[in-house]
Amino acid sequence: MSAVTLQDIVKRFGSFTAVHRTTLEIPEGAFVTLLGPSGCGKTTNLRMIAGLLDPSEGEILIGGKRVNDVPIHKRNLGLVFQNYALFPHKTVAENVAFGLKYRDVPKSEIPAKVQDALELVQLPNVGDRYPKELSGGQQQRIALARAIVIEPDVLLLDEPLSALDANLREDMRVELKRIQERIGVTTVFVTHDQSEALAMSDLIVVMSEGRVEQVGKPEEVYNTPASEFVANFLGASNITEAQCIEHGASVVVEDATFGKVTVPAAKAPNLTGTGKAKLVVRAEKLLLARDAAPEGVISVPATVETVDYQGQAVRYFVRVGEAQLQAINMIDERPFAAGDAVNLHLRPQDCAALPG
Ligand SMILES: Nc1ncnc2c1ncn2[C@@H]1O[C@H](COP(=O)(O)OP(=O)(O)OP(=O)(O)O)[C@@H](O)[C@H]1O
Ligand SMILES: [Mg+2]
Repeated sequence: MSAVTLQDIVKRFGSFTAVHRTTLEIPEGAFVTLLGPSGCGKTTNLRMIAGLLDPSEGEILIGGKRVNDVPIHKRNLGLVFQNYALFPHKTVAENVAFGLKYRDVPKSEIPAKVQDALELVQLPNVGDRYPKELSGGQQQRIALARAIVIEPDVLLLDEPLSALDANLREDMRVELKRIQERIGVTTVFVTHDQSEALAMSDLIVVMSEGRVEQVGKPEEVYNTPASEFVANFLGASNITEAQCIEHGASVVVEDATFGKVTVPAAKAPNLTGTGKAKLVVRAEKLLLARDAAPEGVISVPATVETVDYQGQAVRYFVRVGEAQLQAINMIDERPFAAGDAVNLHLRPQDCAALPG
């Protein structure tokens, strides 16, 4: 059963359509991420689920019930936004208790619920402090405690980690996922950060320009992108013009760079027959090597053009004839340098194909 359903939702602002007809099911208890570039409609969708915006068309269901006409405070949702500021003149405990005051929670039960929520976010001893006496990450945890203390049916999170610095953001990612798993609350999380989405989600909804491009588990959208947009947005991919020359038990695609590549049929689900196609090669699946390739691995000669160090990995731009390709490899003791002649190794089973 789905906890939240968007049914044929359209959202227009004047003559501009921010969300094109969208149907989406958020399964009960799942951590679902709306992922896409700035302006693709993530926040608009979230605000419609929250009841902060009315859809122009379509229906929103929460727990199977139509909520289009149910105001936000009757939807039993927990909300955390990027800068969902805490009330500065209330203590942390008063901030967390805020949502409970407007519900039928007996006064005597409030302190224990607040304390439980603070313990869940691992800040059990800060109830008497004021928000300004906490770090940014701690404040965001309090905002989360305030959202979950009401035991919401759905937790809606709009880029809640984006104001935090990189290290803290990674810690909070783990923390947020732990809390969500512990209380099992259905969560809709919005981000434009693909690594966040891949690390945290049960399901990723990849969006572009007001449309859903693909819905799938992280490994599905990563390994089997349904469109060129998804292949480029999640990780770095090399996408080349190709021809599908065999489409049966095996799918064979030929391009000018790698020649004939036998792509697993499961990685070409949208390719319906022979003819124009695109070959998708993830940057990290393209290995620079000095040696010949082992059996079953494609090898093409290339020249290193640019070397871009990225910490544990290095991104190479390499040239194969007309094509410039990128490869992201782990750094070993003998990294390659610009000008080196190398072999590019590629396992056909790591390739995907799209319609041309
Ligand atoms: N109130 C509004 N009036 C007019 N246009 C709006 C309004 N709210 C959003 N839009 C437009 O709708 C589109 C989607 O906006 P939305 O805020 O949903 O994007 P987003 O995916 O959340 O982007 P970001 O990652 O930058 O937060 C944008 O082009 C935006 O300019
Ligand atoms: Mg937004």
